[in-house]
Amino acid sequence: MSHQHHCLANDRADTATQFLQHPDNPMIHAKTIVLALAAVSALAGGAASVAALTPQQAIDMRHANFEKMGKAMKAIGGELKSGAPNKGLLLANAKIIAAAAPQVTKLFPAGTGPSSGLKTDALPAIWTDRATFDALGGRLVGEANKLVGVAGSGDAAAVGAQMKALGGVCGECHRKFRKED
Ligand code: HEC
Repeated sequence: MSHQHHCLANDRADTATQFLQHPDNPMIHAKTIVLALAAVSALAGGAASVAALTPQQAIDMRHANFEKMGKAMKAIGGELKSGAPNKGLLLANAKIIAAAAPQVTKLFPAGTGPSSGLKTDALPAIWTDRATFDALGGRLVGEANKLVGVAGSGDAAAVGAQMKALGGVCGECHRKFRKED
């Protein structure tokens, strides 16, 4: 799905660029240019941004995004183990995970797998079975949002159960789509 998004965004961006560069168009009005640029940058701020990354940048960004989620899960685990979890910390870290989760599958654009020659543990199956990969990404978002829902309660048992549900999705995707070290 993210692929379709950035193709669409590319088409739109190209059209706008051609329009702006058209040599014999004296009718171009400053306001029209501003509107065209606003449309392009609105797209660039969303799903389109991934299309502008080099493969190495996309790989770096997904690693950083995963590490952010891993750190937040550790922080929540630490709070739960403490016996007296800090609700504010539980919630803040749950929100970090929920913000990172929707980025996960977007940061695997075509050309960033092992055939790129770059260092990555991503398996080629991501690009041959994209529907399964994206479905796992969707489940991750759902479980992360549920975690935000229970984190603020400070109910350690409920947060622990939801952490297990979330971690289950991480593990399932790693088994299917990440090279074992
Ligand atoms: C939709 C599939 C998917 C889900 C869901 C997923 N991961 Fe991953 N994860 C991957 C893949 C694929 C890689 C390998 C990426 C690479 O090396 O380019 C990876 C790599 C990682 C890494 C290593 C990053 C690095 O710097 O090498 C960490 C840490 C990680 N994931 C944590 C998590 C956590 C925590 C969750 C759940 C909250 C999670 N992942 C959910 C697919 C997933």
